Amino acid sequence: MPPNRLYFGDCLDVMREDVPDGSVDLIYLDPPFNSKRLYNAYMGGAQWVAFDDTWRWHEAIDDFDDVAGTVELAGMMEGMRRILGEGPNLAYLSYMANRLRECRRVLTERGSIYLHCDPTMSHYLKVVMDAIFGRKNFRNEIVWYYKNASRGKRQLAKAHDIIFWYSMSDDYQFHRERILVPFESGMTEWRYTRGGQRGQPMPTGKTPDDVVEMPSLNAMAKERVGYPTQKPLSLLERIITTSSNEGDSVMDPFCGCGTTLHAAQALDRQWTGIDICVNACKVIETRLRSHFDIIWSDVEFIGMPKTAEDARTLAEIDSFRFERWAASLVDGMEANRKQRGDRGIDGRGRIPVRKGEFVDIVSQVKGGHTGPGDVQAFNGARQEAGADLGVFTCFADRVTPRMRDAAANAGRFMDVPVIQIHTIEDYFEGRAPRIPRPL
Ligand SMILES: C[S@@+](CC[C@H](N)C(=O)[O-])C[C@H]1O[C@@H](n2cnc3c(N)ncnc32)[C@H](O)[C@@H]1O
Repeated sequence: MPPNRLYFGDCLDVMREDVPDGSVDLIYLDPPFNSKRLYNAYMGGAQWVAFDDTWRWHEAIDDFDDVAGTVELAGMMEGMRRILGEGPNLAYLSYMANRLRECRRVLTERGSIYLHCDPTMSHYLKVVMDAIFGRKNFRNEIVWYYKNASRGKRQLAKAHDIIFWYSMSDDYQFHRERILVPFESGMTEWRYTRGGQRGQPMPTGKTPDDVVEMPSLNAMAKERVGYPTQKPLSLLERIITTSSNEGDSVMDPFCGCGTTLHAAQALDRQWTGIDICVNACKVIETRLRSHFDIIWSDVEFIGMPKTAEDARTLAEIDSFRFERWAASLVDGMEANRKQRGDRGIDGRGRIPVRKGEFVDIVSQVKGGHTGPGDVQAFNGARQEAGADLGVFTCFADRVTPRMRDAAANAGRFMDVPVIQIHTIEDYFEGRAPRIPRPL
């Protein structure tokens, strides 16, 4: 198995299906924060919604049941339900708890996990982390002070994120000698000539404290790739250096544009990245190719077909993964978080057209047989979902003239057809559906 792997998919499924128990030395995760926002990406001259950080209870009931069904976590989840009620916050926490539980399963006995969050949910997440990893394994609450604060008019300006560091046991990696910072002036001489440590070899610096002062990436930063919420490479380099050795395996289950993978590759660690956004995976591939002479046979891309033939194979062997991939081929489209009970809709997206104005798009995927009745039914599902446009995705050899007629009969919106048939072959040949672009 190649040492480095990039997966397109939900990290819960990927970890459950593909990551063995006790196989990862270090996990860093920077999941959505429950900010109730849409995050736009700006790449290749286009703008699209990269991910949606809004949470709905009905989409997280399975996660809640999974976690609350375990002996160790039932009490904590029940307590959260009482405090928060069945709404977006409990949905978010259930989603996170289920994935953090898998993180624990895949970590080695000496492993560490760094969970990046912010004060929106950090107080609840710490309770979840205590329940999953054990309070005694809590190592630090790291404050990342990024300085360029938002403006505070009725309260203080927000200028920090939180990173919780937990280990799996008391025997964890902490390479303090690699991250020492200089002593404040005067300290050294006083300590080592008069204190109890007289005669000891003088260290070259002191252990840094748990506040990391580091600017976030501004729009002009050289390392910026245009993906929202991109974290600075130096932050990840510091974490990886502190808690792992060369050759160790590092995993980022919410890897975005691949900052962790970039840092891990630069520091000679093996890496696994997972993201649920097809475009994020594409950005990562470009990013790594432009920075490293990686031996590409050492990297495996999973869940992302590279040709129409690959896509056909994926549809045959794993129709669920195929659907998720195909539902998000259009920039800005995201597969449903929940695949069951989707009422004929497999993916959704919002494309900004003017400030504060969006076009809502839905998609449906058919990996096998299809016909004009499916196109008509999809248009009905689109109307029911209140979307402006619909993208119907299938293989080219399934499309018939009567299907094209059914699509044309759905009419037009902002000068583009309301229902468009977009084949897998169109995608690989670089043809995208017509989407109204910003005016
Ligand atoms: C805050 S961003 C991570 C940014 C990243 N640290 C970087 O520097 O680029 C969160 C990412 O999690 C992804 N995501 C959300 N839910 C996911 C899931 N269930 N499995 C995998 N990735 C997910 C989103 O697509 C998004 O790219």
